[in-house]
Amino acid sequence: MAAKAWSGVFNEATDRRVEHFTESISFDRRLYAHDIAGSIAHAQMLVHVGLMTPDECRQIESALADIQSQIESGDFPYSTELEDIHLHIERALIDRLGDTGRKLHTARSRNDQVATDLRLWCRESIDRLDAALLDLQYAFVHRCDADRDCILPGYTHLQRAQPVLAPHYWLAYCEKLQRDRQRLADCRRRVNVLPLGAAALAGTTLPIDRDHVAKSLGFVDPQQAPQVAANSLDATSDRDFALEFAFVLALIAEHLSTWAEEWILWSTSEFNFLRLPQAFCTGSSIMPQKVNPDVLELTRGKTARVIGNLQALLVLVKGLPLAYNRDLQEDKPRLFDSFDTVLACVEIAAPLVAGAQLNRPAIAERLDRGHLDATTLMEELIRCGVPQRTAHEIVGRLVRQALDHNLRLSDLP
Ligand code: ARG
Repeated sequence: MAAKAWSGVFNEATDRRVEHFTESISFDRRLYAHDIAGSIAHAQMLVHVGLMTPDECRQIESALADIQSQIESGDFPYSTELEDIHLHIERALIDRLGDTGRKLHTARSRNDQVATDLRLWCRESIDRLDAALLDLQYAFVHRCDADRDCILPGYTHLQRAQPVLAPHYWLAYCEKLQRDRQRLADCRRRVNVLPLGAAALAGTTLPIDRDHVAKSLGFVDPQQAPQVAANSLDATSDRDFALEFAFVLALIAEHLSTWAEEWILWSTSEFNFLRLPQAFCTGSSIMPQKVNPDVLELTRGKTARVIGNLQALLVLVKGLPLAYNRDLQEDKPRLFDSFDTVLACVEIAAPLVAGAQLNRPAIAERLDRGHLDATTLMEELIRCGVPQRTAHEIVGRLVRQALDHNLRLSDLP
């Protein structure tokens, strides 16, 4: 059995059941590249301040590169005994380099290490999601030319209200997604602050250079000034950056869910406004005629877990005293799940938006009913000098007459 990284003070081995209960390697292994990047920056800083020789650092860098390719080729051995990704990589380093590997954790704790890794992961994930949202915006924008002369009924209370151009609908979604992207960018600024150097909770007596690490890991502002967490208790214990990301993810999911709901309605025989691309629909095993909008339904359905994840994270941190508490390990499954879910929804939405077709004849028929021209008629009366309240009353009475005789407004003399 491998000795624990903390074995010095212990006389007893860890119970197997505890190892299974406390492990996070099953889900934090996806932080391997961020952990290695953080370790390389840390080692280079240790050279810079004289706590490590350049040769030791070179050995560490090449061993870490080797470990990274072993992980990426699928040959890396994982074991619950080694708890998490940080201990796995460190152990693999020590196995390769002995005492030189044992120097890497100088002036560092897993508490500032895990906060750094998670911030690096959030930053990268925000950038990936932003690119996917931009693609989805393009999908909506590209529809605008083809649909530019298509007039749709606009709804309030899901009752026909006023006519609007189809691109007006598409651009409404672009605006929502634009604000989501702004929120991501804003969240990224608070994510992009270096916790490393805070050590376990109180910093270190060793002469480290945090700005050096911040610059090599890109924890910098737009003017390239290093962004370093000011308080070590705060830096190791707070996950508000992760919660903020989870919140932005929940809002994106909400936006996609309302769009999915609308398009599910529009693709029913009752509405019949929209033909979804068949490649994005599924059939029924018993009813031969069915073409179901499962992708849209799952987009709506998956929103539930993204909201649930945010709730779980909010509750997770609500009672934690300073500084690091092991509870925080529970942040990752929820955050990872929200990101994976929302990214998948955004990525599948783009081709669906591009491939759907408006059913113009059915839409035109619907425009003819519901007195969508009433507001415009009222505004024409206002233009002729009729006070708004009076014009509203007059047109209201006209609509009443049309309804009573089953006519359109334009049928009235
Ligand atoms: N796996 C832990 C986490 O995700 C890493 C930090 C462990 N620190 C500790 N003091 N046990 O939070």
